[in-house]
Order: sequence, then structure tokens, then C-alpha cells
Amino acid sequence: MSGALRLAVVGAGGRIAQDYLTVLPDSADLAVVAFVEADATARARLSGPQRGGDRPPGSTRPPPVFDSVDALLLDGPEFDVALLLTPPATHEPLTIELLHAGRHVLCEKPLATDVAAARRMLDAARAADRLLVMASKFRFVADVDRARELLDAGAVGTPLLYENVFCAPVPMAGRWNADPAVSGGGVLIDNGAHAADLARCLGGEVVAITAAAAAPRVQDVAVEDTARVTIETASGAVGHVDLSWSLSTGRPDYATVHGTAGSLSLCWSGLRLRDARGAVRDLGDGYDKRRAFGAQLEQFARAVRGLEPPRPDATDALHSVAFVAAAYRAMRERRRIAIEEVLA
Ligand SMILES: NC(=O)c1ccc[n+]([C@@H]2O[C@H](COP(=O)([O-])OP(=O)(O)OC[C@H]3O[C@@H](n4cnc5c(N)ncnc54)[C@H](O)[C@@H]3O)[C@@H](O)[C@H]2O)c1
Repeated sequence: MSGALRLAVVGAGGRIAQDYLTVLPDSADLAVVAFVEADATARARLSGPQRGGDRPPGSTRPPPVFDSVDALLLDGPEFDVALLLTPPATHEPLTIELLHAGRHVLCEKPLATDVAAARRMLDAARAADRLLVMASKFRFVADVDRARELLDAGAVGTPLLYENVFCAPVPMAGRWNADPAVSGGGVLIDNGAHAADLARCLGGEVVAITAAAAAPRVQDVAVEDTARVTIETASGAVGHVDLSWSLSTGRPDYATVHGTAGSLSLCWSGLRLRDARGAVRDLGDGYDKRRAFGAQLEQFARAVRGLEPPRPDATDALHSVAFVAAAYRAMRERRRIAIEEVLA
């Protein structure tokens, strides 16, 4: 494959699409050749003069807009890869349709609403010999890479405790996020999908989980809006993950690893290393969503070209879905759930 990969953006009129569409024009490796959007108002916006995105290489015309993946495959331009930005329950059917049509897919988190669906999707990718990659933006925050290197180099000694907080007030009433048939659940699957992959990235394999939702549901929604997950990792470290759509903790960090020789904190504004004597070093650049999305897209393109393995890989993606499934089961059954139980 020479030249830029031709990309179709599916769910191009939604919220997260706006972020991707500010980054895609800067991509040397991906050229947007089509939009797919089910909602007529959003389609009109995409076709209008203020629409975001690229132009097909050598063309002065805006990318055409289709109302479904079916229509794109039937009447649309040729394309190599798809970026899937639709709500979670649609990920399985749309991904499998695109894979069967011979396209590589970068699918937003959560990969799927349950483990069985994730397995069917990953099996379809293997059978079609195409890549299916779960979008996981925190893997592409430069500070997360740096943190991984520091941890591997023993910067905090032996890691024993892990904390992750993804809490921010977001009104979800009336959105698909609050409809479990579409979302697969509440904040646990929404922010938890990020948390699962970040924990794996920083602390290795998560092997068991307990979980509880806060009893007062602050928002008028049918799903949990605040929850805590406790984790055990294969190395024996333990930790907790706090998730909320209804509060902010005000903490400067979103993840911290505490070890025998110090603590390493991923802060929104940078990376902070505290040694056992309390001396603090500030490192890193902080969280930059635009840069993370850009790096994620470029890595996906390199993986499609066979230049490097995908990040996260299929096992990472399956474990992210298993983490969330184990947390829901732990909450329902009020007991510790081994990840193996949900993968069995
Ligand atoms: N990485 C992140 O930080 C992040 C942030 C927010 C959302 N997300 C994920 O992105 C996905 C979309 O979330 P959102 O908040 O942008 O939702 P959204 O509702 O704002 O956007 C989804 C868009 O997909 C369209 N759509 C729905 N079904 C479709 C179909 N079958 N074919 C074509 N278009 C269809 C909708 O009309 C809508 O415009 C979800 O999986 C969500 O979890 C990721």
C-alpha cells in the first residue's frame, strides 16, 4: 500500500468524531475519503461548508456522506480502513460487516458490550486477515510511555499499590450512554474501558476484581454513575479505580503507582516522581488529547502497513472487555471475580 491509506469515518457526526476530525487533516498517512452518519441533521452538517475532515487526495470536493455502512460499501469510494465512532452496541455488527468487506478497523472503546461479542469481532478479524484495533487513547499519551519506562527501570522499586481516578461531571440523562441496551452499562463500561487498558499498561495483567456502585444515583439515569473497582494484578500488586460521571475529586493525578522506593503519578499537567525520601521530580508534558489521538491514528496506519504490531493488541482489547465484564459481575454477585471466570 503506497500513499495515504483511504479512511472512512463511521459515526462522523458525533461528539468524539469532532476530536478526530480536528486531527485527521494533519495526518500524512490517512486521508478521509468518506463519512458515514445515521442521523440526518448530523449528515447535513457534515455535507455543509463548515464540515470537518479532509478531502480525498487530489480532489477539491468534500468527502461524500452516507447514511449507513451498507450504503458506503454499495455506492461509496474505495477505502482501506475504517474509524468506527458509533455507540457501543453497534460496534459488533458494523465491525464485522467492515471486516468481511476486507477493511481494517480502528474501533472506539469499549470494543464491545460483552466478552462474547468481543471474541466474535476478534475472530472475524483473524478470519478476514484484517486488523481490528481498539482505540485506547491513554496508551498514546507520551507521559504514559515514559511512566512505563520508569517503572520498568525500577523508579518506584517494587510496585505494590495502584490508584486510578477517572471522575468528571458529565450530564448523561437522555444520552445513549444512559441506555444500557446501547451502552452496555454506565460509567463502569464508559470510563472503565479506559481504566482497564491503562491499568494493564502500567501494572500488567489484572487477574481479579471486586466492584461496587455508589448507592445514591445522582443523575436521573438507569445505570451506575459512580463506582469503585478494586484490582489484583498478576505481579501481586493491588489497586483501585474510581469512576464517576457525577463528581470530580479535584486530584491533580489520574493514575499513581506506589512502590517500595517511591510513587509515580500521571498528572493531567505532567508526570511526578517522588522518591522514598520525599524528593519530588516533575517530568513529562501532561495529558494532550489531540496529540494522543494523532499518535494513535499514526500507529494504526503503521500497523495496517505491517510496520509494527497494533497497540493495543487483540489480547489487550479482549482483557479490557473482560475487566469491565468482571466488574459488572462482581457488582451483581457481590464477590471477587477472577478475570479467568469471565474469559472461560
Ligand atoms: N476515546 C474517548 O475519549 C471517547 C470519548 C467519548 C466517546 N468515546 C466512544 O466513542 C463512541 C461514540 O461516542 P460519542 O460520545 O461520540 O457518541 P455520539 O452519540 O455523540 O456519536 C455517535 C454518532 O454515531 C452515529 N451513529 C449511530 N449509529 C450509527 C450507525 N449504525 N451508522 C452510522 N452512524 C451511526 C450517531 O448518529 C452519532 O452521530 C463510543 O464508543 C464512545 O464510548 C470515546
